Amino acid sequence: DPPLRDLADQQGSRMGVAVSAHLLDDPRYAEIAATQYNSVTHENELKWETVQPQRGQFNWSGADRLVDFARANDQDVYGHTLVWHSQLPSWVADGGFSAPQLEQVMDDHISTVMGRYAGDIDYWDVVNEAFNENGTYRDSVFHRTLGPDYIATSLEMAHEADPDARLFINDYNVEGINAKSDALYDLASSLLDRGVPLHGVGLQSHLIVGQVPSSMQANIQRFADLGLEVIITELDIRTTTPASEQQLQAQAADYTRVFQACQAVDGCGGVTVWGVDDGHSWIPDVFPGQGAALPYTANYQVKPAYWAMHEALGGD
Ligand code: G3I
Repeated sequence: DPPLRDLADQQGSRMGVAVSAHLLDDPRYAEIAATQYNSVTHENELKWETVQPQRGQFNWSGADRLVDFARANDQDVYGHTLVWHSQLPSWVADGGFSAPQLEQVMDDHISTVMGRYAGDIDYWDVVNEAFNENGTYRDSVFHRTLGPDYIATSLEMAHEADPDARLFINDYNVEGINAKSDALYDLASSLLDRGVPLHGVGLQSHLIVGQVPSSMQANIQRFADLGLEVIITELDIRTTTPASEQQLQAQAADYTRVFQACQAVDGCGGVTVWGVDDGHSWIPDVFPGQGAALPYTANYQVKPAYWAMHEALGGD
């Protein structure tokens, strides 16, 4: 059977995976990441607290490791993430900066990180998780200090840092049509109207078995109709654990639904799954009693969800 990445390449589509650089020490983990996927995303190593834990002190070890891995395996790297309220070091979150000072801090961070990887990373989640569930802006040091225009400012800074990069806004619970995705849609429209450099939206897609939104395709379509690229950036579909065979089959059907929603829309660039295997997924830590959300088991065996992706990409 051809690996997923070969099938995706034939369709010109991204088939990505989130990787934790230190787990590449496990040869089975590294083998799956290298052979099955044509794109990788750093699960944590490019986040602000890791990359710039103190002002002006940059730590590139984990981030470089995955970029080197991707280069060795002829993979794209999707950059995650630059401006986010979470995993933000306290020197930024609690720094007490004035608006001009915070803009300087943001510009230093964005230009240094994007500059280092220019040519290696062409896609960036510039702003992550800007909204609350009801569509209002999330409180963060960025919003509190700069108002909602911190988003446009971040995108302008990113465009300046690497004019060739494709710039995205990424969020969760925006897969279907709802108050939060309406807010994202309104923001994207108004940024485009203003000429702000924005090239796409990332739908994280941390979903639950049996609850893939029925409006997912229509939602992807409305963003594509704005001229934006849409990427499913962090797909996982969780269930209660231990998962029964029936739950795993239902999960596979849900993976199929997500791929079909993307493939039905010109302008949906593909899918990244949020982790190699169930044994290293973030979900059980955050949702105790849930998990089994990825295409591989903790023992690196393929699951029905793997074959659903394989088939959706044209394999037989
Ligand atoms: O590395 C430390 C370790 O030294 C320490 O002993 C341990 C104790 O808690 O923590 C380890 O750090 C953890 C880190 O993952 C690395 O495993 C953090 O606690 C933990 O909070 C962190 O979780 C990450 C989470 O983002 C943080 O918000 C997950 O791995 C990562 O999958 C998750 O990814 C996010 C996306 O960036 C944005 N969208 C949602 C998605 C899922 O939450």
